[in-house]
Amino acid sequence: MPPPAPTPAWQALADHHRAAAGSHLRDLLGDGKRTDALTFVLDGLYLDLSKNRLTTDTLALLVALANERGVAARRDAMAAGEVINTTEDRAALHMALRARAEDGFAVGGAPVHGDVQAVLDHMAAFVVGVESAARVGATGKAFIDVVNIGIGGSDQGPRLACRALAPYRRPGITPRFVSNVDATDLTETLAACDPETTLFVVSSKTFTTAETMTNALTARRWLTDALGSGAVAQHFCAVTTNDDAARDFGIADDARFGFWDWVGGRYSVWSAIGLPLALTAGMDAFRDFLAGARDMDRHFLETPLAENLPVLLALAGIWNRNFEGADAHAVLPYDQLLDGLSDYLQQLEMESNGKAVDRDGNPVAQPTAPVVFGQAGTNGQHAFYQLLHQGTDLVSADFIAAVHPAHPTGDHHDKLLANFLAQPAALARGRKADPAVPPYKVFPGNRPTTSILLDRLDPRRLGMLLALYEHKVFVQGVIWNVNSFDQFGVELGKELAGPLTRALTEGTEPPGLDASTRGLLARIRRVRDGGDGP
Ligand code: F6P
Repeated sequence: MPPPAPTPAWQALADHHRAAAGSHLRDLLGDGKRTDALTFVLDGLYLDLSKNRLTTDTLALLVALANERGVAARRDAMAAGEVINTTEDRAALHMALRARAEDGFAVGGAPVHGDVQAVLDHMAAFVVGVESAARVGATGKAFIDVVNIGIGGSDQGPRLACRALAPYRRPGITPRFVSNVDATDLTETLAACDPETTLFVVSSKTFTTAETMTNALTARRWLTDALGSGAVAQHFCAVTTNDDAARDFGIADDARFGFWDWVGGRYSVWSAIGLPLALTAGMDAFRDFLAGARDMDRHFLETPLAENLPVLLALAGIWNRNFEGADAHAVLPYDQLLDGLSDYLQQLEMESNGKAVDRDGNPVAQPTAPVVFGQAGTNGQHAFYQLLHQGTDLVSADFIAAVHPAHPTGDHHDKLLANFLAQPAALARGRKADPAVPPYKVFPGNRPTTSILLDRLDPRRLGMLLALYEHKVFVQGVIWNVNSFDQFGVELGKELAGPLTRALTEGTEPPGLDASTRGLLARIRRVRDGGDGP
């Protein structure tokens, strides 16, 4: 497929962008009809694109681009279980994890619904066992801490979901997450736990990831030091596609949960990787979470592109990234329960579409994923919003909030929502230069933002929201012609870390080190040996 930049639809957008150069959101937003035309609703999720510097004409041209790039056909290929992740020779069928039987997902012609349901049933039985204390620790005590050991997609999804749905948590059981190979992470987590009442979930698609295996081995030692080696079978479970490795680790047959190579790590929260959510909020909440994602899937699969929320969100992002020149994108949830959303979307967007080579092996013809960052509002307002309002770079942003609060305490939520409304309005409107206004008090405005308003943050809406972003990322990947489902960019650093680990633990000398790394290694050794530097 040719790169998008020189195509007719891309050229039409470039011309349109030039023609609209003088327009300002301050003026555009005076038109109520525009807001109606650029606002979309699906089952308690309201998407307002009207504070982006685009018009209905822009959207029509962007939809033409999506058509030209074959978005619908690629979407249908993904849903048909085709091997769209060609570099890894895999399908990308995370939608099947939240599907109903009648949705008919299959890989290589083989339906997958039965396998998916079997794992869900296994999860349900395990959750009931823990809840009812039929499944207890080695000394007969019920579990009160669930410690997930994983990293990347085997950490971010369940971490975000458990945090976002904390109000749905069952009393008496606390989810905890350890990801970093820095022992501080595990040490601090275990300091709050009792071996007798701790259940570990080792989450790793491959069961080889260095950080996860290091943490799992140390956690196992912590447990067996206290309770003996026989306790591993009761206190550990695993979620992995590498069943043999989990068995070899000592995890019992009924505590190993599988998934499939057609589930990418960053798309895996819907699989048994979501077990910490099921264990702490219950299986009904987990199933509602899946149902919300399915609602978004059906919408994505069945709605014309011009009214399709994930497609429209993706197209607004393409406009901001490729035509407006926004190199960075802020994720700004006005909801403390979503304070992990920017981390989650960082992996989803940057690991999926942070690519400079297209699906045909050629250099891409246009910038791909922006730098994604963010923080919960209102905290970010007192940190980096200065740059959003008055900095030299254009940063696009998504503002996300829920109408109904988790904690209806006093007027907190009114104040939170007032800021959710005020910040994008200020970013759009700005404050004009005026003889009475000193230059440092001028706000250029015209800064593009999207607002997403949920009726409430419940399992279903969370599922819809995350699926919305998954499909957004997919559509952008199609338009940029990159493979959104591989992540070879993480390999080189991992490869170099191997010999450097041996250099630090065994004192070997890795060949081919650059002078800077050699110097850093020498400095570490000198300081460790009690030296005070060169
Ligand atoms: O960071 C690379 C990566 O492969 C991610 O894509 C993945 O989510 C993470 O590592 C963890 O991998 P695993 O689940 O195999 O431990």
